[in-house]
Amino acid sequence: MGFDKALLVTGAGGQLGLAFADLVPDAILLDRDALDITSRDAVMDAVRTHRPDVIVNSAAFTKVDQAEAERDKAMLVNAEAVRHLAGGADEVGAILVQPSTDYVFDGDKETPYSEDDPTGPGSVYGVSKLAGERHAANAKRHLIVRTSWVFGEGRNFIRTILKAADDLDELSVVDDQKGLPTYAVDLATGIIGLLDVGADGLFHLAGGEEPATWADLAEHAISVSGKASKVKRVTTEEFLSTRASPVAPRPKNSVLDCSKARALGVSLPDWREAVSRYLTEARLTQTSSPDE
Ligand SMILES: NC(=O)c1ccc[n+]([C@@H]2O[C@H](COP(=O)([O-])OP(=O)(O)OC[C@H]3O[C@@H](n4cnc5c(N)ncnc54)[C@H](OP(=O)(O)O)[C@@H]3O)[C@@H](O)[C@H]2O)c1
Repeated sequence: MGFDKALLVTGAGGQLGLAFADLVPDAILLDRDALDITSRDAVMDAVRTHRPDVIVNSAAFTKVDQAEAERDKAMLVNAEAVRHLAGGADEVGAILVQPSTDYVFDGDKETPYSEDDPTGPGSVYGVSKLAGERHAANAKRHLIVRTSWVFGEGRNFIRTILKAADDLDELSVVDDQKGLPTYAVDLATGIIGLLDVGADGLFHLAGGEEPATWADLAEHAISVSGKASKVKRVTTEEFLSTRASPVAPRPKNSVLDCSKARALGVSLPDWREAVSRYLTEARLTQTSSPDE
């Protein structure tokens, strides 16, 4: 992809970071070992060394359930560290791209959430990401991109489901939460698209327009991968009753209204097509993938 600006990616070992690595071969890719974003000194050193035009902060504490018990850590990575990055971006005149999440909403609205809707996170993760948005918004030039249900190279719902499908004939999957599943490669492409048209501020960007429930997503992934397991559709309440470890609250409605980005000519492909492409590209249609 032709992107002629110097792009620095933090958290380059994560799903979104790896997608940027593929899309923008010249990008400066800093994984967690190369740059711990919670160190202000390390952030400033990296920014002064590389003097990027764009900083994409793909680093995050994304373990939503674990964040409930590790609030300080979630706040440090998802919020406080973004303050360092905003300061670094301002020092070299870069734009800070800060991905955020549907989990900043309470999920009680019936229709898709637009950028103007009031936030109200129900989880520690959501609170920390919202605080991160506020730090990012203090950068003189910033692009905050809320997305949802991301799958790519790494830990994600689809991988978990396909792994479970190798062992179980029937999987119980939540059917009363809905959202727009988003392929990390499409998200990175969309972020580049927004940068290309000079967008700044707050945008929603997620896969297609037709929502899925987790059960829809599981069923489609199992079907495309050719596995035999059946999906049993359950309510959140039923699912929680089977879980021993604490689970963070998630919005019932996670659907993001992406019309603001669409009006600038940027939209992401429908999730069904994206899941098929992902499973082919990641070779997850094989019974066992090399890293499992
Ligand atoms: N995944 C989703 O479903 C989802 C949904 C909505 C929004 N988002 C947002 O989208 C963005 C990208 O998410 P993702 O799915 O790519 O997440 P991911 O796969 O979990 O990647 C995050 C990366 O950040 C790294 N990291 C953690 N703490 C760090 C630190 N202190 N310094 C530097 N790197 C650190 C992680 O390393 P370790 O693995 O070693 O911890 C990991 O490589 C995040 O902002 C996330 O909040 C994600």
